[in-house]
Order: sequence, then C-alpha cells, then structure tokens
Amino acid sequence: MSAALAEILAGLRLPEKMISPKYFYDERGSQLFDEITHLPEYYPTETELGIMLDNMPEICDLIGEKASLIEFGSGSSRKTRALLNSLHQPAVYVPVDISEDHLLLSAEKIRSEHPGLEVLPVVADFTQPFDLPDPAIMPLRNIVYFPGSTIGNFTNDIAQELLGFMYQEAGADGALLIGVDLQKDPAIIERAYNDSAGVTAQFNLNMLTHLNREFGFDFDVEAFTHSAHYDADEGRMEIRLISGKRQVVTNSDERIQIDDGESILTEYSHKYTLEGFEKMAQRAGFEVRKVWMDQGELFSVQYCVRG
Ligand code: AVJ
Repeated sequence: MSAALAEILAGLRLPEKMISPKYFYDERGSQLFDEITHLPEYYPTETELGIMLDNMPEICDLIGEKASLIEFGSGSSRKTRALLNSLHQPAVYVPVDISEDHLLLSAEKIRSEHPGLEVLPVVADFTQPFDLPDPAIMPLRNIVYFPGSTIGNFTNDIAQELLGFMYQEAGADGALLIGVDLQKDPAIIERAYNDSAGVTAQFNLNMLTHLNREFGFDFDVEAFTHSAHYDADEGRMEIRLISGKRQVVTNSDERIQIDDGESILTEYSHKYTLEGFEKMAQRAGFEVRKVWMDQGELFSVQYCVRG
C-alpha cells in the first residue's frame, strides 16, 4: 500500500473523518481551483495580485539583485510571473511541489516566458525538509516565496513548523515573501467559499472523484454536499463534505462506514490578524520587515528577514 493511501485511510478512521486538502489537486481539481481564482466572490487571488503589482518596485528593491526565488508550490500563478518579470536579474527560480506533472508543466511554461532564467523544479513535499538544487549562477541570497495564503491550509502547529523550514531554506541572508489572508467580516470570507456558481462545491466534491479513480475508493459522490463555515474562535474556514445517506466505502480490506449527515473535513483555511501572524513568524526566527495590504485590508503580503 502506498504511503498516500495509508494516510488517507488513517484520516478516514478518525472520530472526525478528514482527508488532506492536497488531494484536491488532480488535473480537474487544479482546473477548478483556477476557476475559483476568477470568481467574483473569491477575493484572495485578485487582491494579492493587486498588492504585488502596486508595490512591485519596493518588493524588488528589498529582494535585491541576483537572488534565488524558491517557491513553495508549483508556481503557475500570475503573481509569480509578475514577480519574475520585475526582479533584478534573478539567479534561479526553484518551484517546489509534490505533483510532478503539474510542476514540470508550469516550469516549462516559466522557462519559455523567461529565456535565460535558470528554472530548477524540485519534486518534494514542502511540509518536509528538502535539499535545494545547485544553480549555475551562485545566488546572492535565497528568497522563499509562499503566495496564496496556502499557509492557512495548515493547523497552527504545522504552520509554525513550516515557517521553521522556510527559515532554514532562506539561510543567513535570506528572506521570506508570503501571502497572508486576514481576518475580516465573516460574511465576506464565507461568501468566498460558497460562490453562487457552485464552483467551490464542485472543487470540494471532486476530491472524492479523484480518490475513487486514483486510490480505488467507491464513495457515492452524488450523495455528498459541500459545506463551508467560518469558525470565528479558531479564525478559520472549515470546509467539509456531508453525506446525505448512510454508506459503506470499501478499500483494500477496509470498510468505512459513513452515517447519514456525517461529514468529512477536507480543508481548513486560516485567516490571521497581523499580530497573530507576526507572533508565528517571530517564533520561527523571523522579523516582519514590511507588510503591504490592499485598501480594504482584506489580504497582506509580508516580507520577513532573520530576526
Ligand atoms: C489554495 C489554500 C489558498 O484556502 O482559499 C479555495 C484553497 N479552497 N477555495 C484557500 C481554496 C476553496 C485556497 N488555498
């Protein structure tokens, strides 16, 4: 049995069933996520891109010349391309992602758009320490780039650990450039995950279609519905799939009973206060040097150096 299947089964044996959000992203899932980023209700992508574009000269001056850009994630976003277009003679671009096909495809795209830039994709799970490749040009410093508020997918303990890994990867003169979604009127947040076109629901349900196809499950996908609520005490969106009937899902020798009305947790999306994120960054050894926000203070892009 693969490690991935063992992990999925372990999540389904828990008193509150859960499946990691990384299983959203098969080909269809990546396509649906791309659609989400264009939805009128989904403010994070457009807002973060706007913040980047409004402050690009300052961002690039802080990063300086001949830096390496190490992206946690596959790096197909408009934010990454805008940054690579504006950086002062970047030495190398290193996207790090677990999904090899997606990673190599977007690396190829970046290469064709940036001739002369060395692109060294690393297939790795960035929640574990990994080795950096040897670039042809020695970078002056390492910049870890973690856009999209993907940090919010992780519980506070894991997010803290992840910031520690990023601190290690950045090295002595390095820095972290990170997108951090902010706490705000819960109605705005909940709308972003309950869009009127139902794309987020499809994205959520597609996880089960993915597991049926890739891992041999037999979820009755049609019986599930999408649920997304903001827990103000925890400061996070909690996204679940709720079964509308009792069903028994089988895999290998295992039978998993799901009751009528029972849910599977598929994603957290934590929202932060500026103080809350700063505490986490500081605990990892970082000093928050600069915070850029949009007018409405919906989202932030933060530049952190060694404290
Ligand atoms: C990719 C984790 C940043 O949390 O907003 C969007 C994923 N899930 N709609 C987020 C997501 C449902 C997204 N991140």
